[in-house]
Amino acid sequence: MNNYAIILAAGKGTRMKSDLPKVLHKVSGITMLEHVFRSVSALNPAKNVTVIGHKAELVKQVLAGQSDVVLQTEQLGTGHAVMMAEELLADQDGQTLVIAGDTPLITGESLQNLVAYHRSHKNVATILTAEAVDPFGYGRIIRNQNGEVTKIVEQKDASDFEQQVKEINTGTYVFDNKRLFEALKKINTDNAQGEYYLTDVISIFKEAGEKVGAYKLLDFDESLGVNDRLALATAEKVMRQRINRGHMLKGVTFTNPEATYIDIDVTIEPDVVIDANVTLKGQTTIAAGVHLTNGTYIVDSSIGPNAVISNSTIEASEVANDVTVGPYAHLRPGSKLAEEVHVGNFVEVKGSSLGKGTKAGHLTYIGNAEVGHDVNFGAGTITVNYDGKHKYLTKIGNHVFVGSNSTLIAPLEIGDNALTAAGSSITHDVPRDSVAIGRGRQVNKEGYAKTKPHHPEKKSDQ
Ligand code: UD1
Ligand code: CA
Repeated sequence: MNNYAIILAAGKGTRMKSDLPKVLHKVSGITMLEHVFRSVSALNPAKNVTVIGHKAELVKQVLAGQSDVVLQTEQLGTGHAVMMAEELLADQDGQTLVIAGDTPLITGESLQNLVAYHRSHKNVATILTAEAVDPFGYGRIIRNQNGEVTKIVEQKDASDFEQQVKEINTGTYVFDNKRLFEALKKINTDNAQGEYYLTDVISIFKEAGEKVGAYKLLDFDESLGVNDRLALATAEKVMRQRINRGHMLKGVTFTNPEATYIDIDVTIEPDVVIDANVTLKGQTTIAAGVHLTNGTYIVDSSIGPNAVISNSTIEASEVANDVTVGPYAHLRPGSKLAEEVHVGNFVEVKGSSLGKGTKAGHLTYIGNAEVGHDVNFGAGTITVNYDGKHKYLTKIGNHVFVGSNSTLIAPLEIGDNALTAAGSSITHDVPRDSVAIGRGRQVNKEGYAKTKPHHPEKKSDQ
């Protein structure tokens, strides 16, 4: 029997107080909707249908063809939202998972268990539930004396007695597909919020004598529905714990996993040591033996084996093995550092490649440059790559020695083994094996300092 999935993502998320639709808020680097999709994919659905509405175009972009979409122009409730999928699904035989786009912590494994439970119990509807310490805000699972589920009551409709119930509706269900759309025809808006509640189909099934059940999650954390920024931070925290735990079990050392922020798609090899306050974002890969010291922030970059990155920022760059970066260095997009490169204090590299063993120890800017191997940049070197309109290339050969405080005015080419004198402005190409001096000559005027105000022998002007 086929599985189908309906993902509810049309709501605005009023309680988020945001311009962005709620399901597009991110947890550990990807949208909540994407988290839900990844979990749903564990069921291999024959068709996914996502119900979109508020800022539909924006939500559609994120889906990027992973799902059919139906538009719910007015958000009249979760039941109404599911009805929107009728046209695409109502004729199908099979089971349909309905899940909210704001429950990013439910795992694929739990969804598989839910479906297996639903099948083995031959239910018409099975609710994914959880036991909450504080159930406030969630729909409550109401059972009869025999322990059978009879209905779901929303927070705002619950009696004092019903509010005592700790078992909550996660907003995830499996239904017999055809029965679901039949039951939806019978729901109304006769409730505290004046909405079509999806949850009302449970009592409709029960009253018709159909078999309804609940599969309870072992871990309450999974059930979290994100309705406001407080819950968003909780989701982030739980996801962070999961991610970091996974890395630790695979051989990564964390000095303080509570204060280490790693996006879900980052990969890290064993024997990496990560100090506190490190952030790894996007599509980043960290190879074995790397040490990331505190304050390091890496986005969409790859770091090669045994590199040491100290308190530095790296964006969209490639760092090879045995490189040392920082402290306080900044690799901007398009930087490629070959093995054993050293980029030290207050050095910025952008859109440049540095060959094996090249060193820029201090206070240097390297932009739009192709640099060979074993080059040494003296402190204060600047590639002057921008004239206000265009960027120009600086090409530096192998074994070049760039004197401190050199200003390399691009476009420029410096040949192998050349040397630029400290303090030079280099405006013309430098042939290989040459020394280039581009600075004013020093003149010493002996005794003249005595006429200057700083001099201890200079009498006061008064
Ligand atoms: C819902 C459940 C509640 C459950 C909780 C779990 C109902 C009536 N209540 O409440 O029992 O405990 O989830 O988190 O179903 N949506 C639409 N169109 C609409 C309304 C909502 O697409 O017209 C989408 C929202 O974008 C969201 C999801 O459905 O992704 C859930 O809606 P939300 O308003 O957050 O429902 P809750 O009040 O949390
Ligand atoms: Ca919700």
